[in-house]
Amino acid sequence: MGYNASNLLYLISIVTFILALRFLSTPAHARRGNQIGAVGMLIAIVVTWVKTGGTSWWALVLGMVVGGGFGAVAARRVKMTAMPQMVALFNGVGGGAAALISLAELHRILPDPGRPKTDIGIAIVLSGLIGAISFAGSGVAFAKLQELIGGRPITYRGQQFVNAGLFLACIAAGVALVAGVQHEWLLWALTAGAAVFGILFVLPIGGADMPVVISLLNAFTGLAVALGGFELESNVLIVSGMLVGASGTLLTLMMGRAMNRSITNVLFGAFGQVSAQAAAVAAGDGGTVRSASAEDVAVMLAYANKVVFVPGYGLAVAQAQHDVRQLADLLEAKGVEVSYAIHPVAGRMPGHMNVLLAEANVPYPQLKEMDDANPEFSRTDVAVVVGANDVVNPDARNNQGSPIYGMPILNVDDAQTVVVLKRSMNPGFAGIENPLFYNPKTVMLFGDAKASIVELAQNVKTL
Ligand code: TAP
Repeated sequence: MGYNASNLLYLISIVTFILALRFLSTPAHARRGNQIGAVGMLIAIVVTWVKTGGTSWWALVLGMVVGGGFGAVAARRVKMTAMPQMVALFNGVGGGAAALISLAELHRILPDPGRPKTDIGIAIVLSGLIGAISFAGSGVAFAKLQELIGGRPITYRGQQFVNAGLFLACIAAGVALVAGVQHEWLLWALTAGAAVFGILFVLPIGGADMPVVISLLNAFTGLAVALGGFELESNVLIVSGMLVGASGTLLTLMMGRAMNRSITNVLFGAFGQVSAQAAAVAAGDGGTVRSASAEDVAVMLAYANKVVFVPGYGLAVAQAQHDVRQLADLLEAKGVEVSYAIHPVAGRMPGHMNVLLAEANVPYPQLKEMDDANPEFSRTDVAVVVGANDVVNPDARNNQGSPIYGMPILNVDDAQTVVVLKRSMNPGFAGIENPLFYNPKTVMLFGDAKASIVELAQNVKTL
């Protein structure tokens, strides 16, 4: 294939990647975005394959069949609740590939007379370093989310010093390589050191913070891949790597902001430990909790004008999205106005609630983002909190001592009545008490969210 033709086709793939991101930003067009991106990726793969045709084509085909087959089966089989660890795995593989490119490139150019040019040397060192951190860090994130290892932060004395020492040693190896110490083993040592650093860096971070870490590691992978593109003189790799890097960075920052936590606090705060203490302190000064039966709540819902469902992590655990949709249909048939209030960090991954509700074919206009949902609560008769906790905790507004103070929340307590569906009085992710449960406006419907919603629907049908 000619140089111009291949570059034109690469340009087309670059445009499809940008369009894909654009479409992915709204639930209504996300599926189309995914398809456009897949077409662009297919073009890039085929062009690269044809360009490199002749050199070990069978190895490329073998790699594509094994990798593509694994990806297709995994994507079909994965449960929605396991999506974050799948993203971690795929992301880690991308980082590992970037590290391998750097090792292969150094191996290829070292025998040439003269050392690698400084710019290529820097790209090789950085993609090896960052790719290996992302590979190993994503592996630990996967293991924590898959519960292969404990999710609690693993900390020990002097941890930051060990990590800093290891990181500096990797940097020193990189500087030596760029300065002209021509030993391939230096890059192997650097990559291995970076992988160990990736493991040690993620171990002290709590399991529930993993989505933020994965998004950050995703940004790392993007950067490492872009550097790989620089080494291979591949524009499509540079642009797609930078797109991944930029979107991963933005997502990390947005998640941090929506949780009112700095990225430093996520990375070095060992959040699960701090919050367990906060829970113990807060647990003392509760109040009275009112619990209701499904019959009582069904009456409230059936005779309401406006009902807002507020889904949270418990909806995902219970997989109650289809049942919520059916209950909503029954209520709408009775003339009740129904909508869903979505908090940006409800659940455990970005867009978690949107994905679940889209799976149940909830009409998109009924999904209200936080800023649109909050003004509506004052004219809402019943807010039904389905397995949400932190994202409706009024302490974020009122209690300066709370670890989540300042986090924007859904103001469900503005509704006339709040019904909370959960199994117990246990706290949510932040590990803290929720005064909403003691509010005189609130009734608790204890039980698994799916079972409770099914019972509510059965009762609504009889009214
Ligand atoms: P959480 O505060 O974690 O509360 C979830 C609640 O669901 C728990 O209190 C639990 O109570 C209940 N639950 C669990 N399984 C249930 C089931 N089968 N049936 C009924 N209830 C069930 O959830 P949230 O309000 O969605 O807040 C999300 C939290 O995760 C925030 O603190 C956020 O900062 C954090 N976070 C989010 C993300 C993203 S990107 N979404 C990433 C990292 C961290 P019981 O055990 O009593 O049932």
